[in-house]
This record gives sequence, structure tokens and C-alpha cells, in this order.
Amino acid sequence: MLEHATPIPITMPVFGEREKELLLKPLETGWVVQGPYVSRFEREFCAYTGAKHSLATTSCTSALHLILCALSVGPGDEVIVPSFTYVATANAVEYAGARPVFCDIELATFNIDLKEAARLIGPRTKAILPVSLFGLSADLPGCLELAKAKGLHVIEDAACALGARVGGAHSGVLGTAAAFSFHPRKAITTGEGGMVTTNDGELAERAAKLRNHGAEATDLERHQQTGGSLLPAFNLLGFNYRMTDLQGALGVAQMERVGDIIAGRRAAAANYDALLAGAQAVRPPLAPKGYEHAYQSYVATFTGGGEPSLENLAQLNRQRNRLMARMEKDGVSVRQGTHAVHTLGYYQKKYGLKPEDLPMSLLADRLSIALPLFMGIEPKAQERVAAYLLNPERYI
Ligand SMILES: Cc1ncc(COP(=O)(O)O)c(C=O)c1O
Repeated sequence: MLEHATPIPITMPVFGEREKELLLKPLETGWVVQGPYVSRFEREFCAYTGAKHSLATTSCTSALHLILCALSVGPGDEVIVPSFTYVATANAVEYAGARPVFCDIELATFNIDLKEAARLIGPRTKAILPVSLFGLSADLPGCLELAKAKGLHVIEDAACALGARVGGAHSGVLGTAAAFSFHPRKAITTGEGGMVTTNDGELAERAAKLRNHGAEATDLERHQQTGGSLLPAFNLLGFNYRMTDLQGALGVAQMERVGDIIAGRRAAAANYDALLAGAQAVRPPLAPKGYEHAYQSYVATFTGGGEPSLENLAQLNRQRNRLMARMEKDGVSVRQGTHAVHTLGYYQKKYGLKPEDLPMSLLADRLSIALPLFMGIEPKAQERVAAYLLNPERYI
């Protein structure tokens, strides 16, 4: 009976002996704030992504805020943000005092619609902030072309994009800067944590100071230098967005297996693709030509067998919700992909937005289903998940 089968979680971090071994190192030396393991994690991250500079932070949200501040994006400025993303993308723009201008997405990829983005560029626009959602890079070459023509920055929200590539380039290296997340729903985790990547040395230097209260030197540098008894100069209004060395050590251990983790996720995604090939009521996620999907999440769209639209949305949404509720009840963890941020109370009220203003984001909010996906998920478990999507009418 399905009801009594083992629960299938939405995700599972990959931890082993190496993580335990490295986590003990900072405890043994007593150096637990940003230090040698964070530096090593940053070097490994550069080597894996190809970015020239990597700066570990407390989260992807703080990494985004840091980038915006380092680029002096602030009051009076606008930043174009896809509406279908996690709320943190837009929040970072609000923290900087700028205005997020919501842009619709393409339902097929869940990523920013560049035709819409081009329409939204105005005299106050400072940056485009594409999100490489669920592990599929946004159309970064297209974003760059658009941004270059208008003199804008491209700041990528690469929270979900570790392992994602477009045209052979890893997410996080094509724009002005990018922000990654190491929250446990991501491919590798440090509990909480984030990373700024950039190829711009000056930007990296400024962001490094802003990460550390605006100080001209880090604690480790002071510790290692003579004259460390005096505090360094503080010339910027900074923050404490430093990652601890405990998290850095965990990050180093996770980077040793990142290739296996991404490969494991891709294999599980390919298995779902095969299982769902004949599905009528759901559309599996797309990986367009030239894109290497990293499958931070495997997000299908509930279509009911037709083409979703604002007209049939209410009915399809009810069916999707009933199906997800049934799966949860039977121990199969599923989630809506993410939310349409312009429909959330704070943004709706502040900017007077209606849900239908960004129709594709609304459809994605109401019809997406993220399936359980992690390295090592059993094929049998995936078959059990797929059964609900192949014949939803039996369950709702
Ligand atoms: C697209 C996106 N942006 C930003 C974030 C925020 O990441 P963090 O929790 O590391 O701040 C997330 C986290 O889920 C996300 O999915």
C-alpha cells in the first residue's frame, strides 16, 4: 500500500566521514571565524566555476546585497528581477534601497523573459538580475547582450546554479557578479551560506571589505601581521556577512564531491525524464540545447493535458494542489517550485501589483511541482513518485 511505504524526502544533503573530519579541524585549532578553510573553499569554488574571485558569505541573500552595495546600486535606482523566484532575490534589492522591477518569465524554462526585460529598461535601470532557477542557467549571453547595449550590470542570482552551464560557461562567470547559495536544498550545503563570484578584481576587493564591516584588513590578516594590536581603517559602511571557518571546512569537504553530487542529480533527473516521457497531465522540466541543467530541483508543470492559461488556471491549480496534498499524505514530499514574488503581500501592497500583471509567473506559481531529488534516490522511489504524475486522476 502506498500509504505505508517509506517516506520520500524532497532532498537529502550528502554528508560523510570527510565532512566530520574537516568540521573538527577548526575546533582543534580554535580558529572558527572566517579563516583558512573559508579561503580554501573560495579557491576550490574558483577552480570549479572558473570565476576569478569567490567570496564566501553568510547566505546567497547577503551575497546579493553585498554585490548591489559594492556596485553602489541604491535609492533612485531600478533593478529588473524576474517575478518567479524566491523572495530573497527581490528583498536584496529592497535592502539596497533600490526598486525591484518585476519581469515575467518563460513558462518553459521558468527563467526571465528577455523580451519583457528589454521593455522594462528605463532611465533609472542600473542592472538586470536574472535568476538561474532550479539549476538551469538563465539566458546569460542574451542578458549580457541586452545589458551591454544599455550600459547595465548583469547580476546573476545563481543560488540554485552550482553545476549549471550555458554555452560551456559555468553560471556565475558571465555577468558582472553572481551569488550562490549553500542552503540545504542546494547541491552542496554549509548549513547556511553563500558565495559571490566575479571576474572584476576591484569589485571583489570592495565586496570583501563590505563583507567585513568595511574594514581594510581581515581578522586573519591582522592576526598574521605585526601591528595587529591596532584596528584597521574603516572607510565604508559595511556589514558582517562573513562565513565561519566551520562552514568553510564543510564547504571544502562538499567541494571534493561536487562532481559526483551533480552527476547523481543529473542521473536521477534523467530517470524522471524517462519515467514521465508518456505523461499527459504534467510537463517535465526543459533543458534547451546548449544548456547543462544542474537540477537543483526537478520541477514539472501541471498542465492537465492542455495548455495552461489564465482562463483554466483556477481549475488546474485546484487539481495540482489536490495532487500535491495526496502525495504529501502518502509520504512523498513535493513542493510548489517557488513563488511569484509580485503576489506576496509586501510587494503587492508596496507596488500596487495584481497577480495577473505577470501571467507566466502566476502560472508557474500555481502549477509547478518540485519532485524529490537527491544523489542516491532509489529508482524504485522515483517510480513511486512518477505514478502520481502519470495518472493523477486516480489520486485527486
Ligand atoms: C533563487 C533564490 N535566490 C535566493 C535564495 C536565497 O538563498 P539563501 O537562503 O542562501 O539566502 C534562494 C534560496 O532558496 C533561491 O532559491
